[in-house]
Amino acid sequence: MTQVLNAENLTRYYKVSRGAFAEAATLKAVDGVSFTLERGKTLAVVGESGCGKSTLARLVTMIEQPTSGALSIVGENVVGASSETMRSLRPKVQMVFQNPYGSLNPRQTIGSILEEPLLVNTKLAKSERTERARAMMANVGLRPEHYDRYPHMFSGGQRQRIAIARALMLDPDILVLDEPVSALDISIQAQVLNLLAEIQEKHNLAFLFISHDLSVVQHIANDVMVMYLGRVVEHAPRDVLFRTPQHPYTKALLSATPTPDPARRKERIVLKGELPSPLKPPTGCTFHPRCPIAFDKCPRENPELKLRGATKAACHALDV
Ligand SMILES: Nc1ncnc2c1ncn2[C@@H]1O[C@H](COP(=O)(O)OP(=O)(O)OP(=O)(O)O)[C@@H](O)[C@H]1O
Ligand SMILES: [Mg+2]
Repeated sequence: MTQVLNAENLTRYYKVSRGAFAEAATLKAVDGVSFTLERGKTLAVVGESGCGKSTLARLVTMIEQPTSGALSIVGENVVGASSETMRSLRPKVQMVFQNPYGSLNPRQTIGSILEEPLLVNTKLAKSERTERARAMMANVGLRPEHYDRYPHMFSGGQRQRIAIARALMLDPDILVLDEPVSALDISIQAQVLNLLAEIQEKHNLAFLFISHDLSVVQHIANDVMVMYLGRVVEHAPRDVLFRTPQHPYTKALLSATPTPDPARRKERIVLKGELPSPLKPPTGCTFHPRCPIAFDKCPRENPELKLRGATKAACHALDV
C-alpha cells in the first residue's frame, strides 16, 4: 500500500475569549481539509502566515485531535482511537521544526538526543541504542566525533541534520516538516533539501512539507496544496500548479516568487488589502475582498473545491 495517510474534511476550531462580557468566538484554523500522503512522495502546503499550516501539522502528528473530520494513518483511525492505538501510531509520524536550536535540548549531547526516542519507546540495550545512533549520524552526514558534542557547537545546517536524524530514529512512515529550511542560509538550504530528498528515497518516507517559500516547494514537492484562511483553495501536481495555476490567490503567490526562467516571469500581482482576521472571515469566498477578479457571487457563496483536469480549485470564476 502506498497510501500512508488519509485526511477527510479535517477541521480544527479554537474557542477564543473576547473578554468577560462577550461570548467566546470560534476561530476556524483548519476548516474542511482533505488530502492523502503516499510513501516516497511529498505534499507541500503553502499559504500566508496564519492560514492554518502549523495547525494542520499538529493534527497530522496527533499533538491535537481534530474538531471534526476523519484521519487515518497507516490504515488506523486516529479520531476517537484508544490510547493504546495512539501510542502505537505516534512513532510513525515525526516532526522537524523550523528552528533546530529551539527543538534540541542544549544540555544533551547529540548521542543522547538521538538515543532518547529509543530509550522511551523501545527495550533496546544501551549498546544497541548507541550503535543505532551512530549509524543514523552517518546516514545524515554527521561525523562519528559529533556523538559527544552539544547542539550549540554546530551550525544551523548541522543542527537541522541532527533534528532530521532524531526524527528518523523510530523508523517513521511520515515526516512532517514545518518550514524546515526557512531559518537557514540559501546555500545551506540546498544541502538540507538534498539530504531530505536522499532520506526520503532511502526510507520510502511520505513528507508533509510546510513552507511559505514557493521556490523551495518547487524543488521538493510532488503535489502542492495552497491554503487560505484554513481552507484549501488549490491542490495540484507540482508542475501543473507552477505552469498553469488556476486560483487567483495561487497566481498572486506565484507572481511574487522569483523564477530563473524568463519565459515564465510574470507581472507581479499585488493583492488588495490585508489578510482578514480569521476571527471574522469574509462571507462567501473568504478571498473575495482581495481578489482581482471577484464578482457578485463571490461574497455570497463559498466555492466548492472542484476537480478540473489535474487540479482541484475552489473559485467561482472558474465555473463561468
Ligand atoms: N491554540 C490556539 N488557540 C487559538 N488560536 C490558535 C491556536 N493555534 C493557532 N491559532 C490560530 O489559528 C490560525 C492558524 O494558525 P497556524 O499557526 O496554523 O498558522 P500558520 O499557517 O502555521 O502560520 P505561520 O506561517 O505564521 O506559521 C491563526 O489565526 C492562529 O492565530
Ligand atoms: Mg506555522
